[in-house]
Amino acid sequence: MKATRRLFFALWPTDVLREQILQQTEVMVGQASGRAIPASNLHVTLLFLGAVAEEDLPRIMAAGAGTSGTRFELCFDVIESWGRSKVLVLGASHVPQPLSDLVDSLRISLLGQQIATEAEDYRPHVTLARNVAARQRSSLHPVMRWQVGDFVLVESTPGPRGSRYEVLARWPLA
Ligand code: 2AM
Repeated sequence: MKATRRLFFALWPTDVLREQILQQTEVMVGQASGRAIPASNLHVTLLFLGAVAEEDLPRIMAAGAGTSGTRFELCFDVIESWGRSKVLVLGASHVPQPLSDLVDSLRISLLGQQIATEAEDYRPHVTLARNVAARQRSSLHPVMRWQVGDFVLVESTPGPRGSRYEVLARWPLA
């Protein structure tokens, strides 16, 4: 069988931000009675690649390195459940233009490396819990602001107690 690796591009919070997310969301995560995501796994997916062949990794790295973008502020202002996927997420009602541009630019760089991705509506979010039972929606006061200065490529390894994530590479935004 061909070796594959499960990869995704993401925004990776600092430890300080992880702590802040935990503190500001723990009540709603508790109420949602799902499976809470551990602090070390919190992130914003930019582009999910799924299982890719080991031999594609150098071209995926090259696509990351060849993607340029500018820094931006991401403002999380809502906690809500998404019915179909049964997740509780920290969401941003406004998608900053540099963030949309970054995702587009990643797709184009990947295409340039002959790696096709599925075009889907991009909704930036941090998944806080999975398998949540109740419908929830609540505005966040105060809003949480994240100054995003880089993006990463992450490998996901499934394990008995959920996925383990490892940052493989990091690229700065201008
Ligand atoms: P999420 O951002 O809503 O949690 C690693 O699996 C990351 O990629 C997760 O953050 C996950 O969703 C995201 N992702 C996006 N599409 C996915 C898919 N089809 N299967 C699994 N994870 C996916």
